[in-house]
Amino acid sequence: MDLTKEQQDILEGSRGEFLAQCMRWLVEWGEVMRARRLVAVDNTHVLLPVPNLMARGASRTTMERYVAELREACRHPTHPRCYCTVHTAFVTLDDLDVPENDPEQVQAQRELVGLAVASGFIPTFTCAPYLVGNVPLRGEVCAWTESSAVVYANSILGARTTRHGTESAIAASLLGWVPEFGVLLDENRKGSLRIEVTAALDSPTDWGALGYFAGRIAGLGIPVFNGVRRPSQDEAKQLCAALATSGGVTMCHIAGVTPEAPSPGAAFREEVPTDFTVFSDTSLRETYQLLRNPTGDEIDSVILGCPHASIREIAQIAALLKGRKVAEGVSLWINAARATKASADFMGYTAIIEAAGGRILCDTCPTNMRVPARRIVTDGFKQAHYARGMLGAEVIVAQTEPCIRAALHGRWIGNE
Ligand code: F3S
Repeated sequence: MDLTKEQQDILEGSRGEFLAQCMRWLVEWGEVMRARRLVAVDNTHVLLPVPNLMARGASRTTMERYVAELREACRHPTHPRCYCTVHTAFVTLDDLDVPENDPEQVQAQRELVGLAVASGFIPTFTCAPYLVGNVPLRGEVCAWTESSAVVYANSILGARTTRHGTESAIAASLLGWVPEFGVLLDENRKGSLRIEVTAALDSPTDWGALGYFAGRIAGLGIPVFNGVRRPSQDEAKQLCAALATSGGVTMCHIAGVTPEAPSPGAAFREEVPTDFTVFSDTSLRETYQLLRNPTGDEIDSVILGCPHASIREIAQIAALLKGRKVAEGVSLWINAARATKASADFMGYTAIIEAAGGRILCDTCPTNMRVPARRIVTDGFKQAHYARGMLGAEVIVAQTEPCIRAALHGRWIGNE
């Protein structure tokens, strides 16, 4: 890869060992991906790794060294070099009395947040940064962790980001560059598969079903959806999350919505796609069935807000819960960014939800925290997919209203 003199000097240690290590991460990754150069990055969304390292069993010494190195790197007056927000954690900083909210991890999280904030990182703690102010413009080069947000940035906003891991996003934040490959380049943003949508999509979860269906087929490709109306922000959120869950999709095109795809022809750069499929009402029903594996009706958890809920979603949930009570023995979690919860507090939604026995969970989500659950109802395909794998739970994916009904009755009573 061609490096400038400044980049080569950093690689050789001119700005300390930690930044040299960051540069090695970017260069080695770029070489594997056949990038020819590093390009300036405008915007990052990073995972603060310490509590996550703890959860994965790293020693205290490893973490202390990492924090010390990060602190040293952040002392440089130009760090971070771009607009940097923070992804979800494995714990919440709020008072939550469950064993999974491990006090040692919470303490580590607090220390790191203090450091990150002092360095200019914005502590959004969310998997949906575009809901709380991080809305890159068309063409902006980003380095985002969180695969669902990556698809949203590329497909809905017209920004450009490859999928990032913890180290590459931290390195991009501190150095201000990323290796140029994949969807950062025009030629790699061309559609690879046409999906004609004939199903009636009535809710964000239906859009999640479309994404889950398409991700399974597309793999690492770029699906182009035709025949759909413009999705709402919540519907686009579910589509993008599901695409990145069942497949390795980095972006899609929605004809007439994706900024660079005013038509299907533009999405394919006027070439004729070889792959074509239809998403019908039958496909919609069958896709829901893929993530419904209960062996009984009794439920213990309802998880909403995956990716993190918008204020409109919270308003809808509050309206459905108003004056009612969640069934005994059921945990109702609504995951949201701290900034969104502040709006919900101000607008009275939090009080309604808490009076009903639900909880708005900030900074993380039950799956990230590994909160034990036996049978989960959720309106997010991503949540259902990962809860089944990571928590070993039985899952039922459904639209928001039946999820709330299940929470109120303590059992799955179907869609109607
Ligand atoms: Fe966010 Fe957790 Fe879903 S981090 S995308 S709510 S699995």
